[in-house]
Amino acid sequence: MEIIHLSAECYPVAKVGGLGDVVGALPKYQNKLGHFAKVVMPAYDTKFMRENEFEVVYDGWGKLADLNFPVRIFREKTNVLGFDLFLVHIAGLLDRPKVYGYDDDVERFLAFQIAVLDWINQWEHQPDVIHCHDHHTGLTPFMTANCFGYRRLNQIPTILTIHNAQYQGQFGWDKLNYIPEFDPWKGGQLGWGGAINPLASAIKCAWRITTVSPSYLDEISHKANGLESLLATEQYKSRGILNGIDNEVWDPAQDEMLYKRFNGKTVESGKKANKAALCAVFNLDPEKPLFTFIGRLVGEKGADLLPEIFINALSYSQGGINILVLGSGEKEVEDRLEGLKQYFGGNYNTYIGYNEQLSHQIYAGADFLLMPSRVEPCGLNQMYAMRYGTIPIVRRIGGLKDTVTDIGDGGFGICHDQTSVGDVGHAIGRAYGLFQDTKKMKEIKKLIMTLDHSWDRAAQQYIDLYQI
Ligand code: ADP
Ligand code: GLC
Repeated sequence: MEIIHLSAECYPVAKVGGLGDVVGALPKYQNKLGHFAKVVMPAYDTKFMRENEFEVVYDGWGKLADLNFPVRIFREKTNVLGFDLFLVHIAGLLDRPKVYGYDDDVERFLAFQIAVLDWINQWEHQPDVIHCHDHHTGLTPFMTANCFGYRRLNQIPTILTIHNAQYQGQFGWDKLNYIPEFDPWKGGQLGWGGAINPLASAIKCAWRITTVSPSYLDEISHKANGLESLLATEQYKSRGILNGIDNEVWDPAQDEMLYKRFNGKTVESGKKANKAALCAVFNLDPEKPLFTFIGRLVGEKGADLLPEIFINALSYSQGGINILVLGSGEKEVEDRLEGLKQYFGGNYNTYIGYNEQLSHQIYAGADFLLMPSRVEPCGLNQMYAMRYGTIPIVRRIGGLKDTVTDIGDGGFGICHDQTSVGDVGHAIGRAYGLFQDTKKMKEIKKLIMTLDHSWDRAAQQYIDLYQI
């Protein structure tokens, strides 16, 4: 099958979070199954663009209301990622350093989608499926189904994967003229809650919808930032497919970003060396258990509660633990987490910012990874942690529930029910107790490293889904 993935992110070209990881891996694993999966994404001004070689495959003009813009599409020449990668260059709109966060993101991602459809519209053949990821590509199913100019494309199945229903990309009806001409009777397929809502539109128009874990699919028909009733209605065409991880990128035996590489047999010495190096850099004590948090410092991740959780844990344990945070997000949370350093130096440290290499080093060197998420559609961190022998402490929600089983239930992680200071504190207490049981710790580390979270299974599940 020829599969076109449309996405705003793709690791290592541009990554903000897990979306980038998924789109950087799933196509590669689909190709291993004998398919032709490709990724089409915006050409941002990133290091990857400067360091790789490209050829031009399309030169044309796009149109967004009164704005005519030149479009150039590049193909990465060496297939370095394991799939064909196409980058859409629109000068002045997409060629900026950041992926998101600009005032004109609506215009940017709509121009991107229009450029892609104009391009595909010129192909002699048609792809077997267009797979859209999140709201940035959410107007594509509407446009292929309804825009007069894209009539040729209306038999191509479209799939929407919802990575996170909190973000929907809404904008006002005053921008309706951005969308190429379509049958006005179909306008209702664009809207939700008084606005044009790209995610809602994709939920209505895509041939199939997936969420990134089965539990998240259940949860969003009850709670999804206003989309729950729509999602409940569209359940018949929805499926929860659990994300995998790229076992080639995330392999402690091959990972060049680590201080020391290790495998299941050398997990004890390997993790010890990584922990020692990490503790030296962050002024922590390698003899004490190392708890970590990696991720976006936002409410969804429970990050606002971290300062209080950490104060309690560091105080109750009388400095018997280490905590290391890697993340960025809401300024207030960043400041509060930074502020704790002056009280708990030697036991606590932070790196506020984004640092891919450090994330690998932390997965490798930590004992426990905290994920007290309020919402977690899948979560990849817990799977990376396990692959690197780090025990996850997670709230039972979404993909966390689907990937981590509590030790008390014969599993290998520590689970709690609520995103609350008390519940997470209790879980940290349990982990502290576990850490004292050296034999059990060793067993669990070994076990979690052998769990198979690779993309092999899910890649096939998507292929099955595409056979519409
Ligand atoms: P989300 O996409 O909701 O942020 P995921 O768990 O799916 O959460 O994926 C997060 C990804 O981003 C993981 O690869 C994680 O290691 C990475 N990540 C998050 N924050 C940082 C950071 N500050 N520095 C480096 N990597 C980070
Ligand atoms: C989103 C979700 C996260 C998921 C990721 C990849 O960013 O918040 O839970 O793992 O997408 O699907």
